[in-house]
Amino acid sequence: MLREIDNNIWVAEQPLKYWGLEVGTRMTVIRLPTNELIVISPIRTDSTTIHQLNEIGNVAYIIAPNLYHHLFVSDFKAIYPEAQLWIAPGLDSKKPLLSADRVITNDRGKITEQLDYLLFDGFKVLDLSGPSILNEFVFFHKSSRTLILTDTAFHFNDSFPLKTRLAAKLFGVYDQLIPSVLEKVATREKEKVKNSVQKILCWDFNRVIMAHGSIIEDNGKKKLKDGYERFLGISL
Ligand SMILES: [Fe+2]
Repeated sequence: MLREIDNNIWVAEQPLKYWGLEVGTRMTVIRLPTNELIVISPIRTDSTTIHQLNEIGNVAYIIAPNLYHHLFVSDFKAIYPEAQLWIAPGLDSKKPLLSADRVITNDRGKITEQLDYLLFDGFKVLDLSGPSILNEFVFFHKSSRTLILTDTAFHFNDSFPLKTRLAAKLFGVYDQLIPSVLEKVATREKEKVKNSVQKILCWDFNRVIMAHGSIIEDNGKKKLKDGYERFLGISL
């Protein structure tokens, strides 16, 4: 189900478990003045969501923003073969069967005039093989003043089930915008992370969307800054 959160921006959410905890996952949809839609970090398709998408515009771009959020991009591309699939660098070799139209290679740029992007450099995640590069691109939707993150921050509050809330409280991160907890142990490149956050803070955003966590509707810039300063021990 799509949910409109501001003019020309929607989200859709699904349950997702991570290390046994319900963390949810979310995709974001931006509508351009041309009525074209940009789908960032697609979730599993269902007929209701596809119907809603078709009601609000024409899917023209599908974006896999990092090396991990690619599971459903092929499904979307199959439904919308005319749409351009843009992927994070490295995903082309990780998933060679994805038929991407563009690998995002420059550190910053724009999809269109309404949507800027930049690489969140230095961010790593832990997977089975150890710390792995994430290569996440983050986005700024100008008209709604929204920052769109995927895995680079979490925000767990009372909208999450008890177990997730308890875990967040245990880690001292409940109801705060936090860098990925794993990033704290995985990253050894604080300067790169700091530079990335500083670039993000130059954008004039108020709302923060992330794939896992409640949307921060207000004061997002301060919460992002505070979260990174506190949990990564960097001063911005
Ligand atoms: Fe994720």
